[in-house]
Amino acid sequence: MQGKICLVTGASSGIGKAAALGLAKMGATVVMLCRDETRGENALSKIKQKSGNSSIDLLIADLASRESIQRLANDFRHKYQQLHVLVNNAGVYYTRRHITADGLEAMFAVNYLARFLLTDLLLDIIKRSAPARIINVAGAYHAKGMINFADLQGEKDFDGQRANHQSKLADVLFTYELARRLEGTGVTANCLHPGIVATDLIEKDKDFPRLFKLLYRLARPVLKSPAQGAETILYLASSPEVEGVTSQYFVNKKMSQSSPQSHDLRLARRLWEVSEKLTNSSSRI
Ligand SMILES: NC(=O)c1ccc[n+]([C@@H]2O[C@H](COP(=O)([O-])OP(=O)(O)OC[C@H]3O[C@@H](n4cnc5c(N)ncnc54)[C@H](OP(=O)(O)O)[C@@H]3O)[C@@H](O)[C@H]2O)c1
Repeated sequence: MQGKICLVTGASSGIGKAAALGLAKMGATVVMLCRDETRGENALSKIKQKSGNSSIDLLIADLASRESIQRLANDFRHKYQQLHVLVNNAGVYYTRRHITADGLEAMFAVNYLARFLLTDLLLDIIKRSAPARIINVAGAYHAKGMINFADLQGEKDFDGQRANHQSKLADVLFTYELARRLEGTGVTANCLHPGIVATDLIEKDKDFPRLFKLLYRLARPVLKSPAQGAETILYLASSPEVEGVTSQYFVNKKMSQSSPQSHDLRLARRLWEVSEKLTNSSSRI
């Protein structure tokens, strides 16, 4: 990965931090996108130390804010002329409905819409860097999801799990539609399920039921480690085996079947149109 520039969102903890470390060990220039400066600096210094790679950079942005994403894209453009690998990984889980400054339900905004906007804003650089790869961290729970256009932001009826599943289905639909739109550009788009990984995703949700939190803590030793959870990301980012492979869903470094709904073209196009409106972006894709 020498000479490759990789941007990893949500690189301050969990799977994203492990992916950033893995890419750094492979010799890539790694740009870590974190929302909290202190956590970001801590992760950055650990990654530099563990990888021996000094080409690691930190950008701070809140992916729950459209304005912050726009600033992030500008900051990135200012510093870099190329982007070979974009890892859209950052995510949140909330049992209760959280609203962003833009008035959107937070899981839909961070887990999905931020990826749509960031990818769009960086796409010209990514295309210029082809062959390039876009990797979206989705999840197996996408299979339980449905896109409820009548109540996309859960205003009328909210359930944390349902909103999470919806955001993950949106990630898979987005990946496939993006791949279709990028055909012939040398840019691939794939998504993945990282496994059930011992991270702090659920710990950060102060409303997550205490009993389930306790069970999760007890189960941690048998779950995948963040490094194991990052393996499929690193495979998709670097392996010659997936050169040119696009519009696929991966589990454990293997091509896998995503849900029948995730292949619904009309659903994907409708979601795309709604996402353009919600992000105020007349997509360049
Ligand atoms: N863990 C699993 O079993 C599992 C399973 C399937 C899919 N996934 C997916 O894997 C991805 C990574 O999750 P994880 O388990 O590694 O959780 P995690 O350890 O909580 O990591 C999430 C990352 O996203 C960042 N983030 C959250 N909100 C953000 C915002 N508004 N702006 C910028 N960054 C933000 C977090 O920053 P902070 O450090 O500041 O919180 C953190 O770096 C998520 O998309 C998740 O849905 C995880």
